[in-house]
Amino acid sequence: MCGIVGIIGREPVAARLVEALKRLEYRGYDSAGIATLEGGHLERRRAEGKLRNLAARLEREPLLGHVGIGHTRWATHGKPTENNAHPHSSVRLSVVHNGIIENFRELREELTARGHVFVSETDTEVVAHLVTDEMNAGKSPRDAVAAALPRLRGAFALGFVFEGEPDLLIAARQGAPLAVGYGEGEMFLGSDALALAPFTDSITYLEDGDWAVLTRDGVEFFDALNAPVMRARIRTQASAFLIDKGNHRHFMAKEIHEQPEVVGRTLAHYLDMSNGCVRLPFELPFDAAKLTRLTIVACGTAYYAGLVAKYWFERFARIPVEIDVASEFRYREPPLDASGLTIVVSQSGETADTLACLRYAKEQGQKTLAVVNVPTSTIAREADTMALTLAGPEIGVASTKAFTCQLSVLACLAIAIGHARGTLSLEREGELVSQLIAVPGLMAEAIKREPRIEQIATVLSKAKDVLYLGRGASFPLAMEGALKLKEISYIHAEGYAAGELKHGPIALIDENMPVIVIAPHDAVYEKTVSNMQEVAARGGRIILIADKRAADEAAIDFEAIAPMPEMEPDFAPIVYAVPAQMLAYHTAVVMGKDVDQPRNLAKSVTVE
Ligand code: M6R
Repeated sequence: MCGIVGIIGREPVAARLVEALKRLEYRGYDSAGIATLEGGHLERRRAEGKLRNLAARLEREPLLGHVGIGHTRWATHGKPTENNAHPHSSVRLSVVHNGIIENFRELREELTARGHVFVSETDTEVVAHLVTDEMNAGKSPRDAVAAALPRLRGAFALGFVFEGEPDLLIAARQGAPLAVGYGEGEMFLGSDALALAPFTDSITYLEDGDWAVLTRDGVEFFDALNAPVMRARIRTQASAFLIDKGNHRHFMAKEIHEQPEVVGRTLAHYLDMSNGCVRLPFELPFDAAKLTRLTIVACGTAYYAGLVAKYWFERFARIPVEIDVASEFRYREPPLDASGLTIVVSQSGETADTLACLRYAKEQGQKTLAVVNVPTSTIAREADTMALTLAGPEIGVASTKAFTCQLSVLACLAIAIGHARGTLSLEREGELVSQLIAVPGLMAEAIKREPRIEQIATVLSKAKDVLYLGRGASFPLAMEGALKLKEISYIHAEGYAAGELKHGPIALIDENMPVIVIAPHDAVYEKTVSNMQEVAARGGRIILIADKRAADEAAIDFEAIAPMPEMEPDFAPIVYAVPAQMLAYHTAVVMGKDVDQPRNLAKSVTVE
């Protein structure tokens, strides 16, 4: 959830540490800090809030060391104050940490009894004191780290620098991602390759349990048993320009606008456009004809992508689908048999709960498939099969292009499995593929209607509560639309199945509450119209997302219409996601909210 970086260079590293942290700020932005070694002594600067506060502080009070570590925080233990900001230090070292040390209380008691004095409320500070304790007993920094690591329970990525050690940086990984980068006479450490992209494209990912000793001349890797190990050095494609906002005011706006292109690219990876069929770029790890059940697990927006896909898998492949949010699934011990497949969906590929579900499914003997956006992520590496979304780096905390790319991949999988099971005729498969091929163009059409969405956003920005309704595959999209609105505008919003309205939520309807209805012209459209009439009859204010034909047929006095291009309905959720995203975006902009870095959130949730 936090981002960590480290550099051993040949000149002052502070500016580059801040630059790398800037690229990790999507992971958390409650506070930031760096520590460098100057004249043999560790000096640190920390600041509450966004990275710019730290940068301003460094202008006033520069750090000049050639070796250093940095951190951007998403608070778990202790308030987001400067005192709780990383790096945490003892008399001998400074440490940065991403993750949670679960047994920090017992370690803290033990170390306090031995005379260590704690000054923060964080779990991380015990790591500083634990390693210091080992050094006080006469161990070298590397032996002290090796002795301390087995005592830590939980998930962590750690970076250490030591007093009087100008050519040493130590890193460790257990359940949270960490990469080592190679330079010319300098070495780097980062939570992901993107952080290091301005400095190097040559990377090694640590495996779980690994720790590493970095000097200016290279790196040594050790496994959890402290045995030296070799880890592959790879070239990454995370280039520096990819985190540019282009002509857009926010990353979220850029990412919404990129969708026709990245969805097109993703579909091209999975479709044989000339022959009108799906052509998966991998072998399915199971015999689709014998498959008895699909289980889909994910969190947040990725979960809603899975929920939409449930409709597709059931309809096209006639296969029962169970879906759950990962944080529930992992603890309810669901029985999974070997004839089933578990699909996990994750943009980052590092979400702790989703990863735990993947591991659980594997332990149960199931084959696993991961729909992921980061090919080098832990989930991508651990799943039997990786189905890549080609969205490119998604920086805005509110997921947009990753969602529509996930939907695109899941749609292709549903068709491919339907084909393999013989539940789709060739003709129907051809129709579905033609519909998918049309999707990027339809998304571009939807984006052109942005000025109308901006007007509607002005209305929405005055609301305290908003209801989002949809039926069929538009129901999960209604929940996704509500999530988008909540996370960046902080307006309370709920997504409901339109047919559920009369079972409770209709009591909320009054002249103050906008009701956004996602209503593509599909098989359940008439039912949705009935639900809209129920709202209208009670004085509700309906904002309709639909095409002109659907709007005309409904003959209801709508407060506003977000006009959509006409399309076949099967893959409408991919196209109708665009106005839902733009509504949330423009509402937040009108309200002056921090769109790319909404309060309390982080892009990558690597703690449970
Ligand atoms: O990286 P993941 O796709 O696994 O992340 C899952 C959720 O944390 C993520 O979708 C979250 O809900 C987004 N903030 C939604 O916009």
